[in-house]
Amino acid sequence: MNASANSENNVSDGHGALEGESFHQWYQIIIGFDWKLVQHIIDCFKIGPNHLVLDPFCGAGTTLVQCKKQGIPSVGIDANPVCTLASQVKTFWHLNPDQLKALLDEVLDEMVTIECDDLVASDLALAYLQESGMIERGWLSLHKAKKILALNAAIKHTEMKPAERKFFRLALVSAVVDRIADIKFGPEVYCLKSPKRTHVIHSFVDAIDMMIADLAGARQSESSRVKSDVHLGDSREAGVLKKAVGGGADFIGEHELAFKQAGCLWDHRQSPPQPRPKGKHLSRTTL
Ligand SMILES: C[S@@+](CC[C@H](N)C(=O)[O-])C[C@H]1O[C@@H](n2cnc3c(N)ncnc32)[C@H](O)[C@@H]1O
Repeated sequence: MNASANSENNVSDGHGALEGESFHQWYQIIIGFDWKLVQHIIDCFKIGPNHLVLDPFCGAGTTLVQCKKQGIPSVGIDANPVCTLASQVKTFWHLNPDQLKALLDEVLDEMVTIECDDLVASDLALAYLQESGMIERGWLSLHKAKKILALNAAIKHTEMKPAERKFFRLALVSAVVDRIADIKFGPEVYCLKSPKRTHVIHSFVDAIDMMIADLAGARQSESSRVKSDVHLGDSREAGVLKKAVGGGADFIGEHELAFKQAGCLWDHRQSPPQPRPKGKHLSRTTL
């Protein structure tokens, strides 16, 4: 039995759509929390739908997603735009799966019309990969890079709502990191000795199929109505926190799972947390 099944707060629809890796697997970062740890802490602290969880370092949203699955509203902040994108998309369950499938067809049709050579000449990310030698050393082949650029441009050019565009952008990021690029994590990022034989468009479509399947299973659940606000920003800035939780709120004193998680990690390392001098940056150990 997994941690989720033990939960007192579980508001699953009974079909397993909110169990296990669903939604978490859309995009994960190597330093992200394990959802089972988050679930364990939700249970330990008896956090429920009447609480509000703040994760000021929300990463790719494991804490936020697990809270949403349990019917707990949350606020997330992260300074990394890709993490913010992932957290936002993973906690927004109101997109229509049929509409997404129709849009996917449009994106793929649009992709065929894109002139790759123009993109290759002007794209700054590709210029960086080339100038840094990463293409030459085999992190990503130029052939795959061109197709990724074409897909990215097709997502940009296809008419759709902002939330749908974010969904497709995350699917592309997820496909590149997990399936397309010749990299592996462990814990640093490494270049693979022999390239993955993956097909760019198939990988993108597979990522979308997986995401649509999770959405289709969960969008009628009670959890789909649970709010999760995700902000891009530096959590050391009081202004960002005030915006996230409402002016002047005492966010440290109230319901934040994130701080309790940090406390657990410190306990685990048998070194109690020390008060942080005002105005100093957070140390790596607090993350
Ligand atoms: C360990 S990860 C977070 C894991 C996340 N809590 C989860 O549930 O999986 C730490 C995150 O903190 C973010 N971060 C670091 N310093 C930050 C800051 N000053 N303000 C906002 N986010 C920050 C990083 O971008 C990274 O995504």
